[in-house]
Amino acid sequence: MTAVFEDNLITIGGKEFVPYITHQQISSRIQELAQKIQLDYQSTTPVFLVVLKGAIFFASELMQNIKMPVHLEILKAESYGNRLESSGKVKLFLTNHDFENKDIIIVEDIIDTGLTIKTVLEELKKYKPKTIELAVLLLKKEKLQFNLNVKYCGFEIPSKFVIGFGLDYAEFGRNLKDIFILKE
Ligand code: IMP
Ligand code: MG
Repeated sequence: MTAVFEDNLITIGGKEFVPYITHQQISSRIQELAQKIQLDYQSTTPVFLVVLKGAIFFASELMQNIKMPVHLEILKAESYGNRLESSGKVKLFLTNHDFENKDIIIVEDIIDTGLTIKTVLEELKKYKPKTIELAVLLLKKEKLQFNLNVKYCGFEIPSKFVIGFGLDYAEFGRNLKDIFILKE
């Protein structure tokens, strides 16, 4: 598969993506979320559990805007493969299981059907954390199949495929600063 990056057009495997959310818009929304989190976690040291790979960029900017001690843990979730639709199965890889009595904030790039986050939540609950909240950059509400409470949501977007700022199509596009959307 080949990918071509131009300023206002990204082409990956023949699919075309056009500008959708600028990095400036992303950054200012992330600052708002960071302030909210900081107010909510004044009396504890929250653990940011970052869902790899897509949430790396979001988590990095979010955490850098929080001016208090926090911890960072990672989790790998795989579901999509090289397609635009979820495979309906999620594989999880946790590197740390020490979550007992901790205040966890799961950091995810995007919620589509909600299956990935639901799977992560179910797995995490086994380790008896004190609290679990969700920080998600993008939420495709129309496709959501589960009842999830997203306390920290960046943007609600329509049910179309997006890339950039960590999000990929067939592993291309993660390094784009802005978010691009699949052209009609
Ligand atoms: P869900 O399990 O259906 O909620 O899908 C969530 C996961 O699918 C995310 O963590 C992403 O890795 C991927 N995903 C869903 N929608 C998109 C998209 O529009 N662009 C890139 N990845 C997506
Ligand atoms: Mg993801």
